[in-house]
Amino acid sequence: MACSVYYSSYYGSTREYAEALAQRLGTTAERIPELAAAIAPQGPIVVLSPAHGPLNDGATFVLSLADDILEHYPVALATVGMTLDEEAVAKDATAGLLNKRADRVARFYLPGRLNYSELSTQHAMLMKGLISALRLKPKKSDNEKNMIATYGEDVDRVDLSRLDPLVAWVEKNQP
Ligand SMILES: Cc1cc2nc3c(=O)[nH]c(=O)nc-3n(C[C@H](O)[C@H](O)[C@H](O)COP(=O)(O)O)c2cc1C
Repeated sequence: MACSVYYSSYYGSTREYAEALAQRLGTTAERIPELAAAIAPQGPIVVLSPAHGPLNDGATFVLSLADDILEHYPVALATVGMTLDEEAVAKDATAGLLNKRADRVARFYLPGRLNYSELSTQHAMLMKGLISALRLKPKKSDNEKNMIATYGEDVDRVDLSRLDPLVAWVEKNQP
């Protein structure tokens, strides 16, 4: 099937999704290139990226694509994260990051993996600060309560069957 799959990944869960998706579509997954101008897409473009607070490498990549790429190729951005499914979809944080391009990009949310045992020092410090702040917050959402409850643990919510809607999107958007 004609399709281009690009991904970013720090700890491997997004890469697993990207490679499984590419395999199902009969293509290969590539890391998001440094230079967006260097891409030569084949069919619809699927970008997969972890959510990292306000950072989303996939959204940055989509924003850096030339206008004519967006005009010629359908684009989907799948954000992998630990936010509980319903809240991730309801908040649709990726739409805000995509700004004016949000209405041209199909958005998907996939459950991720957060292993505290393998975090870099920088990420561990970030999470420590975030959880300390959340503990002091008076009204906590279910997601925030879950973040506090699982702090320090290894939690793997990766589920490759969740790629089905993305596969359907690629099929629907074949040239
Ligand atoms: C520093 C840090 C910040 C994160 N921020 C978010 C976030 O804002 N929203 C979210 O849903 N998940 C967040 N996560 C969870 C990651 O998105 C999740 O662990 C993801 O599966 C990581 O992908 P990777 O294994 O490909 O690196 C964060 C994780 C880390 C380490």
